[in-house]
Amino acid sequence: MQLLKDKILSEGTAVNEDILKVDSFLNHQVDPKFMEVLGDEIARHFEGSGITRVVTVESSGISPAIFTAKALGVPMVIMKKQPSKVLNDHLYQTMVTSFTKGTNYELTMSQKYVGESDHVLVVDDFLANGETAAGVIRLIRMAHATVAGVAVLIEKAFRPGREKIERAGIEVFSLVKISSMSKDRILFADEEDPE
Ligand code: G4P
Repeated sequence: MQLLKDKILSEGTAVNEDILKVDSFLNHQVDPKFMEVLGDEIARHFEGSGITRVVTVESSGISPAIFTAKALGVPMVIMKKQPSKVLNDHLYQTMVTSFTKGTNYELTMSQKYVGESDHVLVVDDFLANGETAAGVIRLIRMAHATVAGVAVLIEKAFRPGREKIERAGIEVFSLVKISSMSKDRILFADEEDPE
């Protein structure tokens, strides 16, 4: 999606070969009008596939997920990474490891909001190693719901996330794919290296 590529090139920074800083419109400050355009694009791709819920993981997945859910006219469910004093029974839980952040956390979803009649679209900001998405899929399957696909804004194509999800028979849809990064240089998968 050209619009997102342009935004990444104008406002994003490749901190190193692995981390893209997009704090100005996604991870810290959110540009709601821009985010709505991205959510609409994801919704358009999955239109007509019978989605009943959009699921995301706190926190940066929430903004693209809310606009996708709005466009599809379905509720959005936020999976939790932090233990909660109020969300404490009838839960599905699974352990997730983040390679990027070097942390483990228990991903939690209430049994109330996703059930066996649901067809669920997973929406997140980044796809890197696919561990978060794999954890979300485990929880959706614990609820005996079906997975419509995994949609992300930014796919790091040099990480194994897509392969892992597709191997599980699930479609991956990304708005942009980054094939490589180095300090201050970002290359997209569908563009030739100018050098
Ligand atoms: P995976 O989800 O694909 O397995 O990847 P990994 O565990 O390695 O990374 C998960 C966390 O790291 C996610 O944030 C994800 O958004 C973030 N992340 C991965 N690559 C990048 C990157 O290049 N730039 C930025 N800014 N973030 C990246 P999270 O733990 O869910 O935190 P939150 O920001 O959503 O609260």
